[in-house]
Amino acid sequence: MLGETYYVKTFGCQMNKYDSERVAGLLENAGLQAVGTPDDADVIVFLTCCVREGADERLYGQVASLKRLKTAGKTPLIAVGGCIGQRDGEELQKRIPHIDVVFGTHNLNDLVPLLDQVAEDRTPQVARLQDSSEADFKRLVPEQREHPFHAWLPISVGCNNFCSYCIVPYVRGREVSRPFDEIVETARELKADGVREITLLGQNVNSYGRDLYGEPRFAQVLEAVASTGISRLGFATSHPKDLSDETINTMASTPAVLRYLHLPVQHGNNEILRAMRRVYTREQYLERVESLRAAIPDITLSTDIIVGFPGETEEQFEDTLSLVRQVGFDQAFTFIYSPREATLAAGFPDQIPHEVALERFERLAALVQVSAEARNAALLDTTACVLLEGPSKRNPALMTGRTRGYKLVHVPAPEGTDAAKLVGQELPVRITGTQAFYLQGVLE
Ligand code: SAH
Ligand code: SF4
Ligand code: F3S
Repeated sequence: MLGETYYVKTFGCQMNKYDSERVAGLLENAGLQAVGTPDDADVIVFLTCCVREGADERLYGQVASLKRLKTAGKTPLIAVGGCIGQRDGEELQKRIPHIDVVFGTHNLNDLVPLLDQVAEDRTPQVARLQDSSEADFKRLVPEQREHPFHAWLPISVGCNNFCSYCIVPYVRGREVSRPFDEIVETARELKADGVREITLLGQNVNSYGRDLYGEPRFAQVLEAVASTGISRLGFATSHPKDLSDETINTMASTPAVLRYLHLPVQHGNNEILRAMRRVYTREQYLERVESLRAAIPDITLSTDIIVGFPGETEEQFEDTLSLVRQVGFDQAFTFIYSPREATLAAGFPDQIPHEVALERFERLAALVQVSAEARNAALLDTTACVLLEGPSKRNPALMTGRTRGYKLVHVPAPEGTDAAKLVGQELPVRITGTQAFYLQGVLE
């Protein structure tokens, strides 16, 4: 008997968000119900991330702090999965002995049987860590989705790129594409289940299909999923080197595809891009942006940028600033380089002192804010088609939603209407105010 309640804590990227919906589905299927804090849970599951050191440390802090529950007479079962589970396996259990189950990125299906076993004999369990070649895309039970109207749909797992700073290929394995027909069939099921928006997922989503017979391409997945009649279709994450003209054209000609692309550039200097093993130049990246904007003039563009990569000089960093100015991103996720064991760059000379990286990071963040503000300001007094997601976390009198350009919008719930009824609907919204990281609007 596993008890009655569960709590899932998720770190990291959208892959983990999807996995947490699968874990929730498996636990609900085992008869458990979700609760809002670990203190009330009989089963506590962590889905972890190790892409940067900070994420690693947060997990150790949080799991360690749960010891108080075990010593306070409760006996919740604690399971740790995700990328740290995959990377550290048994080691994790040795370091934090009150963890009951360790599992990896490819064996969610083992979670409930292992928890059952611990519940029976109180002996900690470590799942047999698998490789992505054993990845099982099939849905054993329906996911317990965070929003009923939105679903994640993985089309591939793993990554073959081995960017020199990145641990992801070590913890998610080699790239494996999901069979084409299975993707389309799942999209159909999701649509029938009331889903309005699907986000296709892959570490390198737009290189889909190279390992499959007939080499189906990403653009064909977009077309086929859109043809199920789903109203909105997004995808993440795209690699600039794999962004084909065919994909750009399909995005432009398929109304369901969101007017949004997350296209990580990582750096603005060619020498650093080479050292990062990104396989494109600044000029090639800028050319892709130009093609995108020619085909989809109102496209929202976001990116990821790393500062303080080993050897980065002030001049090289300034190339990143000038690229940000040149592109005019709507948003950028900025990170201070964090050396990760086993990656190539961790062994590079000239690691940048933290104070230097931090100072650059702050200059970059300020520039990103200016860019984001300017892009949003241009939307004032326009009308956007907004999918309403629910009450705002900070102010329940406001509803949040996303435009077709995936911009966050705050909308006052109209008086006299039941706000809950509007959740999951797509409605026209007049943009009445703009900030750097969100828009304000009113229902038309
Ligand atoms: N597959 C995706 C996501 C990778 S992780 C992609 O290729 O874009 C998300 C972001 O974390 C990366 O884009 C990168 O900007 C950042 N990142 C990865 N490793 C990092 C490291 N060692 N230090 C700092 N940032 C890192
Ligand atoms: Fe990491 Fe590069 Fe793969 Fe993205 S493409 S997951 S940054 S190795
Ligand atoms: Fe983190 Fe793993 Fe995603 S390391 S970014 S959760 S693939």
